[in-house]
Amino acid sequence: MKKKLFIKTYGCQMNVYDSGRMADVLAPLGYEPVDAPEGADMVILNTCHIREKAAEKVYSELGRIRTLQKDKATEGGRMVVAVAGCVAQAEGAEIMLRAPHVDMVFGPQTYHQLPEMVTRAVRGTGGVVNIDFPVESKFDLMPEETAKPNGPSAFLSVQEGCDKFCTFCVVPYTRGAEFSRPVGQVLAEARRLADLGAVELTLLGQNVNAYHGEAPDDSTWGLGRLLRALAEVPGVKRLRYTTSHPRDMDDDLIAAHGELPALMPFIHLPVQSGSDRILAAMNRKHTADDYRRIIDRLRAARPDLALSSDFIVGFPGESDQDFADTLRLVTDVGFAQAYSFKYSARPGTPAAGMDGRQVPEDMKDSRLQALQQLLNAQQVAFNEGLVGTVQPILFDRVGKKPGQLLGRSPFMQSVHAIAPSRLLGQVVDVRITGAHANSLGGEVVTVDGLSVIETTPAPAGRQAEERV
Ligand code: 5AD
Ligand code: SF4
Repeated sequence: MKKKLFIKTYGCQMNVYDSGRMADVLAPLGYEPVDAPEGADMVILNTCHIREKAAEKVYSELGRIRTLQKDKATEGGRMVVAVAGCVAQAEGAEIMLRAPHVDMVFGPQTYHQLPEMVTRAVRGTGGVVNIDFPVESKFDLMPEETAKPNGPSAFLSVQEGCDKFCTFCVVPYTRGAEFSRPVGQVLAEARRLADLGAVELTLLGQNVNAYHGEAPDDSTWGLGRLLRALAEVPGVKRLRYTTSHPRDMDDDLIAAHGELPALMPFIHLPVQSGSDRILAAMNRKHTADDYRRIIDRLRAARPDLALSSDFIVGFPGESDQDFADTLRLVTDVGFAQAYSFKYSARPGTPAAGMDGRQVPEDMKDSRLQALQQLLNAQQVAFNEGLVGTVQPILFDRVGKKPGQLLGRSPFMQSVHAIAPSRLLGQVVDVRITGAHANSLGGEVVTVDGLSVIETTPAPAGRQAEERV
């Protein structure tokens, strides 16, 4: 009989991808994914440690799971409970001291060893803790991917880990050293996903533009070259990548943005702060003006490029002037969307030890509010700037209203339109008729090459000019 596997995923898209891969690895052992933890034979919490309270959330979830585990035992069954991901990597055996009902704790670099760990946990009496960074690559040892893309848009992991050691960040400790998957493996997975109907591929990596994969001829490819090869894969119409670092935006990648129509004009490029003093304390190794120049070059290559970013307010020692510099950078660049966070000290990172320079909580709150107000205004202006233009929308989901489909614009906005369901999985011209804070409404312009509405397409680059 099939065993039920429930995986709860926290955090980034890398974790979403990893959860799929864990399901792949466990499938040969008879585990089948289910949507709820009740009655499951195995529950895996795939955790995130990037910001505060992540560990506490995991412990309270483990408390709820304990009740389900007892219910299962009353019925004579066994529920194996596992903590995976970055909290597992950071906390290790500590998790079992605080939550003794946990059977397995294992870090992101060990997923290929899951079958062995499961066997040990099910047979043995004690728990299994595995937070090693094995010398072998899990990518080489995991079974061939079997997961089907979830709709026409699929993730493809090409790079993992980070060697940059920003002073606030746990990733170099939880995900380990930077590693790129070989080109051959990436292209093979891209072809497999395209054969299964994926139209859009999003390349994933903690530092995806640091990609330096080994090619079959022993040369090393950067992300620009990889994207050029992926654009040739039959069926692939759209390419994206996330998340990148300004220092790795090299000439070839910038040129690829100008050359590849399949490469979507939207980049998530975290800058964190607009103050050179704070950027130096964060160990970002670039200045605010370096960032401005990169954006200028990207926009010169691809005039309609839209940008997203991450910001941290209240980094230790951040003054009013430093924060004003961040607001100035935001105003100068103009973002289509962005994420902003209050700094939270992560145990073991250098910034957590910057004693006496921590910014008071109420000051962090007011700076976050001011920054978000500015970013929201830019997002609204960007969305409104698209009204009246025609955009190619990839319909990837059925909407809530009858007859409605949902899709994504080139700039990652959600777009809803009345459209026949046979357009699911297709890129369709849609005239944008309305803008909301987080989505756009539109009307289908052409179906199967035939115009259904009289319209004049907007000139390229219009929205970039309009929203400044
Ligand atoms: N505090 C607040 N935000 C953080 N991030 C990473 N570490 C911290 C921290 N200690 C944010 C950064 C990063 C995003 C994924 O999370 O902005 O780009
Ligand atoms: Fe963390 Fe910096 Fe690496 Fe990004 S580049 S994962 S913020 S250490």
